[in-house]
Amino acid sequence: MGSLRTQVGIVGAGPAGLLLGHLLHLNGIDTVVVEARSRDYVIDRVRAGVLEQGTVDLLVALGVSTGLCRAGLRHEGLYVTFDGRRHRIDLADLTGGKAITIYGQNEVVRDLIDARSATTRPLYFGAEGVSVHGLETSKPVLRFQHGGTDHEVHCDFIAGCDGSHGICRPSIPAGAQTVYERVYPFGWLGILAEAAPSSDELVYTYHERGFALFSMRSPRITRLYLQVPADEPIESWSDEAIWDEMLTRMTTRDGWRPNVGRILQKSVTPMRSFVAAPMRYGRLFLAGDSAHIVPPTGAKGLNLAASDVLVLTRALRAFYEQGRTEWLDEYSNVCVRRVWRAQRFSWWMTSTLHRFPNESAFDHQRQIADLDYLTSSRAAMTSLAEQYVGLPAEVSFESAGLQLHTASR
Ligand code: FAD
Ligand code: DHB
Repeated sequence: MGSLRTQVGIVGAGPAGLLLGHLLHLNGIDTVVVEARSRDYVIDRVRAGVLEQGTVDLLVALGVSTGLCRAGLRHEGLYVTFDGRRHRIDLADLTGGKAITIYGQNEVVRDLIDARSATTRPLYFGAEGVSVHGLETSKPVLRFQHGGTDHEVHCDFIAGCDGSHGICRPSIPAGAQTVYERVYPFGWLGILAEAAPSSDELVYTYHERGFALFSMRSPRITRLYLQVPADEPIESWSDEAIWDEMLTRMTTRDGWRPNVGRILQKSVTPMRSFVAAPMRYGRLFLAGDSAHIVPPTGAKGLNLAASDVLVLTRALRAFYEQGRTEWLDEYSNVCVRRVWRAQRFSWWMTSTLHRFPNESAFDHQRQIADLDYLTSSRAAMTSLAEQYVGLPAEVSFESAGLQLHTASR
């Protein structure tokens, strides 16, 4: 049996766990990160692409922005299409110069794993049988098997960053949390295609046949999504059928359409809204998808994970540097407020842009009116823009121990 001691045990090496590990490292706080999957699996998983301005600023302040600065694509606007017409929303103009950056979650995770490796602090990939114990005590324990050996990590705190299917949230006794959930009757079929993006900016499309989204990863790779029925088997979609449907939904009256190319990857993601609150039980703190899921239409999930761990870092830093516990006590309230605003935005984007089974003619006309108002009112566009680029952070970088000089570490 391997026995270890650390300050914060982190379960999960997705964006939440890796960002938290690095933030705490820069504050001189020791962590052990335990990840169930392999390094390659974690990096290769294709997911988010849109980083809010605040997430970009955080990665820069953390000093893990070399790849982001080289390959990130800054977008100062986006398009919304309905009735075959594209309408541009000028994010930068409407928000005093803010923008979003397209940089794949794969790259974010790769950069953070490299940064973690450079610190030589422990990160276990392929951990099996991960479990958490003694959450009500001041010395919680993390157990797992790795390479055939049992490990026990004695911690001051455990951070549950293990996503929506992890073990941390289910370790909280029933009744200690309230769960809020909405399941949508559709999912997204997503592809990566070897094709130069035919637009410099994202295109969100409402079409009679359902939602479609044009995005990208690089000047050579297009990322596209299609609304499909929930639990649609990916095998039922040939590459040819995917392109037919993409082009049908996305081609606009002025002839704009995505470039077609070889499909490199395809998968279907279900859609749901989910919040479990409070995000804390005893010495266990949940962060990211382990506590909340948003439907991807608002592009908020990874960004919420980043803001959670910034708030948690402020709390842990105050605890270790000054013995203060009030920020730990406030952690959940501070995060949950932002989470609900992101939930509302993501639900609204989803409800406005998708076709719902059994919707009435009234519902359909209301959606069209919503899109008409959105694309013709500066006030409506401003509301979308300020939420899309990200609402202001709850806590300052300084309170989480980040100064400008950390950018070079
Ligand atoms: P995860 O990324 O799920 O990481 C959790 C980690 O914990 C995983 O590596 C997992 O293997 C590990 N784990 C699980 N169980 C255990 C265990 N028992 N023991 C140890 N480790 C465990 N968000 C955005 O902000 N912008 C976007 O544009 C965007 N687009 C998206 C598009 C799609 C198609 C999808 C599916 C998601 C999108 N998201 C987007 C959401 C974003 O991907 C997630 O919100 C983000 O991955 C959350 O990070 P996380 O670290 O909390 O969880
Ligand atoms: C991407 C994902 C999203 O969920 C979204 O709303 C916009 C873009 C992307 O993967 O590029």
